[in-house]
Amino acid sequence: MKTWVDKYKPETLKDIEGHNLSLAKLKEIISTKGIALVHGLTGTGKTSSIYALAKDLNLEVMELNASDIRNKSSIESIVGNALGQMSLFSRGKLILLDEIDGLSGQQDRGGATTLAKLLSDNQFPIIMTANDPWDAKLAPIRKKSEVIEFKTPSHITVFNVLKKVCKGEGIIFEETILKDLARRAGGDIRGAINDLQSLTSNKELNKEHLEKLDDRKKEESIFNALRLIFKANNTSDVLGALDTTGLDFDEAMLWIDENLPLEYSGEDLAEAYDKLSLADVYKGRIRRRMYWRLLVYRINFMTAGVNAAKEVKEKGFVNYKRTSRILKLWQANMKYAKRKAIAQKLAKDFNVSTKRMVKEVIPYLKIMYQNGQDLELNLEPEEVEWLRA
Ligand SMILES: Nc1ncnc2c1ncn2[C@@H]1O[C@H](COP(=O)(O)OP(=O)(O)O)[C@@H](O)[C@H]1O
Ligand SMILES: [Mg+2]
Repeated sequence: MKTWVDKYKPETLKDIEGHNLSLAKLKEIISTKGIALVHGLTGTGKTSSIYALAKDLNLEVMELNASDIRNKSSIESIVGNALGQMSLFSRGKLILLDEIDGLSGQQDRGGATTLAKLLSDNQFPIIMTANDPWDAKLAPIRKKSEVIEFKTPSHITVFNVLKKVCKGEGIIFEETILKDLARRAGGDIRGAINDLQSLTSNKELNKEHLEKLDDRKKEESIFNALRLIFKANNTSDVLGALDTTGLDFDEAMLWIDENLPLEYSGEDLAEAYDKLSLADVYKGRIRRRMYWRLLVYRINFMTAGVNAAKEVKEKGFVNYKRTSRILKLWQANMKYAKRKAIAQKLAKDFNVSTKRMVKEVIPYLKIMYQNGQDLELNLEPEEVEWLRA
């Protein structure tokens, strides 16, 4: 089966959403056999725009990859060949060097030289792409190029692409939900299409799908944080590892605790558990004495401490564990804690005991809230959310 990213790949310039100014500039450069360095976030249409433009201008794209560039004879044979063919075929060429930030320093020195030569005497338009054009190693290339930015698409632009795909696939959607999905992509159109495809096997897009996506993204970000904590070579890099996960530190502890044995063994494992228990000690101190400034120590032990406990960081990929009994237990406890807090809060208003509140009133409140009623009780937003869930 074709992926939708592939199926809905822009064929001509008309199929590309947004980027009007950048595309006009690019077209001008290609028509005048210039050199351009196109940059922007991944999945915003850089590569497909270049192919679409080439098609519109009836040019053949010759894509050179990093290993071609590293290899002097290979580049000469490819470009040389193209020159040779000029007389046979009337079609002009465009040379594409995609994702040149993949070319890395030392081992590509030869490549850089060959590339510089190619750029100084170009017979064809040469278009390069990069995610980060300000990388120091690209400085010599930058000097010879027109730098064209592909701005990060707005969520409306992403939405417009998704709408086309939905139409093509006969997917039933609510506009607000599809907009939310577009917003979540952060400008990465490829990512947005992939999300859409993975969520809509039943030809429908609704609120539950979005929640599923959120859960998945949250899990992804937890796994990335774990990977960083367990594998980063530079301990100071991991201090902020948990910041982006949206996890509360208790839950983060459980994830780390649960997955430690998959990454660590022997002495390292013992030491890492030692660090975790120190984090726990600080948790107790913070709670007993309200010393919030101790929080930084707790986080330190959980992240940098655990990281430093391991002598040799392995590169291999480890499938981290999702849930387990203890995680579920903790989540259930959180749920019960919330229910208890609501019951205690409302017991007075309802003039019943907390216990009766839990057993007899809350189940009805839940049903009412789930049916969209808001009783305007004296509750925090997340408590209302709990009743609705
Ligand atoms: N501006 C856009 N308009 C329409 N489709 C797009 C756009 N940007 C990305 N896409 C979709 O995402 C896919 C990946 O785009 P691509 O050109 O490979 O992005 P990049 O090279 O910037 O990473 C395309 O095949 C297309 O389906
Ligand atoms: Mg690309």
